[in-house]
Amino acid sequence: MKSFYITTAIDYVNGSPHLGHAYEKVLTDVIARFRRLMGDQVHFLTGTDEHGQKVQQSARKRGIPPQQLCDEVSAEFRALCAKLNISNDDFIRTTEERHKKVVRAVLQQLFDKGEIYKAEYRGFYSTRQEQFLQEKDRLPDGSWPEIYGEVTEIVEPNYFFKLRAYQDWLVEFLRGHENFIFPRYRQKQVLEFLKEPLNDLCISRPRERLEWGIPLPFDENYVTYVWFDALINYYSAVVDKPGIWPATFHVIGKDILMPPHAVYWPIMLHAAGLALPQGLLAHGWWMTSGAKMSKSTGNALNPLDLVDEFGVDAFRYFLIREMNVGQDSDFTREQFLARYNSDLANDLGNLINRTLNMTNRFGGAQVPAAEVAEEPEREVHALWDKTRDEALTLCEGFQFHAALERTFIFIKSINAYIEKRAPWKLGKSVEAADQALLRTSLATMAEALRLAAALLRAVMPATTDKINSVLGYTPGAVWREELNWGNRLVGAKVAESLVLFPRPAPTPPAVGNKPAGPKS
Ligand code: MSP
Repeated sequence: MKSFYITTAIDYVNGSPHLGHAYEKVLTDVIARFRRLMGDQVHFLTGTDEHGQKVQQSARKRGIPPQQLCDEVSAEFRALCAKLNISNDDFIRTTEERHKKVVRAVLQQLFDKGEIYKAEYRGFYSTRQEQFLQEKDRLPDGSWPEIYGEVTEIVEPNYFFKLRAYQDWLVEFLRGHENFIFPRYRQKQVLEFLKEPLNDLCISRPRERLEWGIPLPFDENYVTYVWFDALINYYSAVVDKPGIWPATFHVIGKDILMPPHAVYWPIMLHAAGLALPQGLLAHGWWMTSGAKMSKSTGNALNPLDLVDEFGVDAFRYFLIREMNVGQDSDFTREQFLARYNSDLANDLGNLINRTLNMTNRFGGAQVPAAEVAEEPEREVHALWDKTRDEALTLCEGFQFHAALERTFIFIKSINAYIEKRAPWKLGKSVEAADQALLRTSLATMAEALRLAAALLRAVMPATTDKINSVLGYTPGAVWREELNWGNRLVGAKVAESLVLFPRPAPTPPAVGNKPAGPKS
């Protein structure tokens, strides 16, 4: 079996989870589930990033110890994973000893090799981003961009990691591994960025300024810079598990691709003599009214509200259907409702209803065998083969939105096939030929539903299970074989009904802000 190790970014615990975090977890989960279905030995890691200035500040604001804040918020992220049906195999917290011990070992090793040195640092520091800024980060008018928050000038001795010494190596590496970063144009941006000389990376923070971090093993007066600490989670979580490292993909947002994941991380690994991941997948942002959803802008949406209202699979479906991986997408409730109503309640819901209803009415609740294959059936079979082949290729290339689009075109075409065959009319006829067509149409719609559900499995696992269950079907162990048109359902006993995606009640009109009309 091929080993496939996939990770998400680990989330900061200075705020509650929002839609951006939920998306990254669902996207990574869909990839993990898809690879498992394809037969890979998957290891899926997620977790929380718990050290650094922001966490220390948030804890102070609330008047609680940082560890308490970490415990509370990390538990929220863990609960989010459970609620979203995320199939992670592990959840790492950077305050765990298993992580801290590996960070100390990597630091000590790099220090012993002379990759880390002490020097005086003078620079402008952004607390919000936890990073020193450079002159080129300033806006044309000399001010600092909004995203850096408050910027202060600092002079202090610190420890530095020799990034610059590896710049040429990194450029060569990226040139030799054209598919290291997905989408590919981002790799070009990184190479563009690497045309400017890199500065060595300041990896320490004096303890008098920052207490909440992992002390440097070679100087207790300093703690480790949070990014240097956090990136190592991908390795520390599997260091004791043979055969997992290196990672296959790190799934991250585009904001943390460059420099942390595309520059610091490959160089850290290379300098420490560790193998590099196969690739980085940088997804885009969920936006509201053109701005990135984030805790600091206050426009973040609580994903759990939508899950409570519409169910986890509808939520997962929306995120994956609507976002072309790598690009940005706007989130509006209207868009969510439009997708929910047209694709799930209408197209998929109708196919389920009709299949169960017709099989109960005309098949004695048992799926019959198909007896004829005329033009309409042949079209359905051919469309299925094409849909499956295209969807698999699209999923291999992370184009899940397009794979779902194809799947729903297939579902729609089955609804059209049912209209064409009109089993309700055939059921009234006593002609043998009509009865054979009736049985064929029942078999065809049930088999098509089984197949569509199988193809939706990575995105909507609970829905697939429910559909299989009402079709009286237990899928076999090899998913690829499940995707072949066949007659696996013949004789299966179907349930009476299943309502998976009820139509939401219409939102009541807003009250209270209308001017009072004239009294009659
Ligand atoms: N702690 C760092 C990551 C360290 S990884 C070694 C971090 N945390 S975060 O909580 O700010 O973000 C976690 C992930 O959520 C990032 O990949 C980020 O891109 C993603 N998202 C945060 N807001 C987002 C959107 N509005 N939309 C999509 N994803 C975004 O960065």
